[in-house]
Amino acid sequence: MGDDQDRATALPLNRRSLGGLGLGWLLSPAAAQGAGLGSLARTHGVVFGTAIQARYLEQDAAYRDAVATEASLLVPEWEAKWAALQPEEGRFDTAPLDAILAWARSQRIPVRGHALVWHNAMPDWLPAALAEGRQRALGVLAAHLDVALHHARGQIRDWDVVNEPIANPPGSDVPDPGPGPLRDTPWLRALGPSYVETALRMARERDPTLRLTLNEYGVEEDTPDAAEKRRRLLALLRDLVGRGVPLDAVGIQAHLQLARPFRPEPFAAFLKQIRSLGLTVLVTELDIRETHAAPQDLARRDALVAERAEAFLACAVQGGARTVLSWGLTDRYSWLATEPAVALPNGRVHRGLPLDADYHRKPMWNGMARAFARG
Ligand code: XIL
Repeated sequence: MGDDQDRATALPLNRRSLGGLGLGWLLSPAAAQGAGLGSLARTHGVVFGTAIQARYLEQDAAYRDAVATEASLLVPEWEAKWAALQPEEGRFDTAPLDAILAWARSQRIPVRGHALVWHNAMPDWLPAALAEGRQRALGVLAAHLDVALHHARGQIRDWDVVNEPIANPPGSDVPDPGPGPLRDTPWLRALGPSYVETALRMARERDPTLRLTLNEYGVEEDTPDAAEKRRRLLALLRDLVGRGVPLDAVGIQAHLQLARPFRPEPFAAFLKQIRSLGLTVLVTELDIRETHAAPQDLARRDALVAERAEAFLACAVQGGARTVLSWGLTDRYSWLATEPAVALPNGRVHRGLPLDADYHRKPMWNGMARAFARG
């Protein structure tokens, strides 16, 4: 047996090696169809990745194959949130995150972290602890960051340090009461507006090599509430950067809705303003919700989703977003189906991810591929 063959058989089952050996029939539909979005994006200087969950990796070989085929970057959908990492105070459970990190290592796919400070996915004990006052809040934040950043050091190079800090203006799906601009959360109540800065500084102190990201949603579309949320976010970013607070990147979640119009110009201008502050722009959680009155015809539905995906991504990529992640890969395991607040009525499932429930590529996949090529 020659060296080459030894190497080929020793490689983990992955996209390139199997494709090259003509063994595509062994794989699920996505893998059998050739180069994935990650490889295509890379030829245009863009990194494409997706959010994954450890339980699906564990139980579904077709899912593993699809992720390995399509993604060049991974982010845990749940496993690095507080409720997962520190279910009880002082008791850390890194097993689900470790499962993702180990698989990612075996596939040589990098992982980004999500999320260190957020008002959701809090374990029950956390809001109560934060309500006990400033010193207590600083203590639990420091302890959590100590463990999370130490544990993933070297493997996660990029964290969403603060997630969704901006209050939703009137007209949003879920408007926040009060004048804003920061969302009223247990973190804000415990530490005041400086909690954003505190979290960023703590992260930088613990690992100066990390890319520190502030992640936000509801800033993409051409509606008055999105315009106001863009203003609020830009004001926060200007303040942080102006005062030298450590911050490297802004994650634009991109949970898009067909019920809301998208126009490239205001979004492109917004990206330009972010980048003029010296910050990197990422698209972190792309998916698309259809309207409740979505047409019955699947091809028509898919065409509308694909059109929006392409228009948005082309603008984002041309506007300098060189990293793009979707929030899931397949309609089979989409939070757009399982989360009551975002699901379609009557059991219909949003077609808002690149692969369908059987791992077949949808027109959205093609729209995304075209957008990367246009970038
Ligand atoms: C979502 C997950 O996808 C769901 O499975 C979970 O139940 C709730 O959280 N913005 C974020 C993500 O930053 O963490 C959210 O993920 C989706 C919205």
